[in-house]
Amino acid sequence: MLAAGCALVLAGVSLAGNGGLLPPSPHSPNADRITRAYIFILVFTGVIFLGVEGTLIAFIVKYRRGKRPRDQDGPQIHGSTRLEFLWTVLPVVILAAIGSFVFYELPGITNAPPASAADSTTITVQGQQFYWTFIYPNGGISIGTMIAPENEVVNENVVAPLTDVNHSWWIVGLGGKIDAIPGRLNKTWFKAPVGVYVARCGELCGIQHAKMTAHVDVVPRAQYEKFIASRKTPGMPLGKEMWQYVCMSCHRLDHAFVGPALGDNPLLTDEAGLTTILRHGVGMMPAVGSTWTQAEIHALVEYTKTLPKGTVSSGNQG
Ligand code: CUA
Repeated sequence: MLAAGCALVLAGVSLAGNGGLLPPSPHSPNADRITRAYIFILVFTGVIFLGVEGTLIAFIVKYRRGKRPRDQDGPQIHGSTRLEFLWTVLPVVILAAIGSFVFYELPGITNAPPASAADSTTITVQGQQFYWTFIYPNGGISIGTMIAPENEVVNENVVAPLTDVNHSWWIVGLGGKIDAIPGRLNKTWFKAPVGVYVARCGELCGIQHAKMTAHVDVVPRAQYEKFIASRKTPGMPLGKEMWQYVCMSCHRLDHAFVGPALGDNPLLTDEAGLTTILRHGVGMMPAVGSTWTQAEIHALVEYTKTLPKGTVSSGNQG
């Protein structure tokens, strides 16, 4: 039983990669510093863990009762100056070392490095139940996938609408989590090579919290410029993202999911009716479109008009 248990645990740990002990490989200078601080602290906590647990096991074996009578007392010891001095001074030294190291790394984690206007860009990241919206400098938006220029300082203004709840923006591999709080502006940044990075919500925010994921697609600047220019006015591609990342968080066409099936719902092609329900919510459904412009809602309806009609099957859940 014990061997089987150990095998299961080890298999899980090895699946997690790099022994399961380290965060995913960092691809941004701030993520690099977070990983370094993590490793620094891991060394101390690892040594302390092995020391304490090892001593515990050694004592259990060495001082077991064996054949001694149950009521026999051990030797009566009063005080040990050397030991008491050690267990006071050592933790102080360890805490001071960890504190100093973290405070040394912290400015490089929280403060974006200085960059010229041509070498940096600012993207607003907005968290809502249960999707992420990215607003680019030209006013263009995308949902679910952020497109960002490579090897440039990308400043992120992380927000949430007043009608929503707290979320936490976390691009695993490009830096730490940062809260998206209604009515508050939080800032973070990254600087990354070309690649696709996984992002997710790091704070329990409701029934579909676990599905509140996104991707950050870092591309050459020319490609980024082309993308944001194409998003300056809302169109079909945005409508499709709205359907995929917003509606489909909770709905399916052909069966009930978190919310009811939508296949035969006339609202999918009724822009006025859809606007009301998106802006104000209804019953269990939050006001997912409280911040959407009419042009954005129009883009969604343009897309939902292309969806197959009357595809609801009964009794099929999940
Ligand atoms: Cu948003 Cu969890």
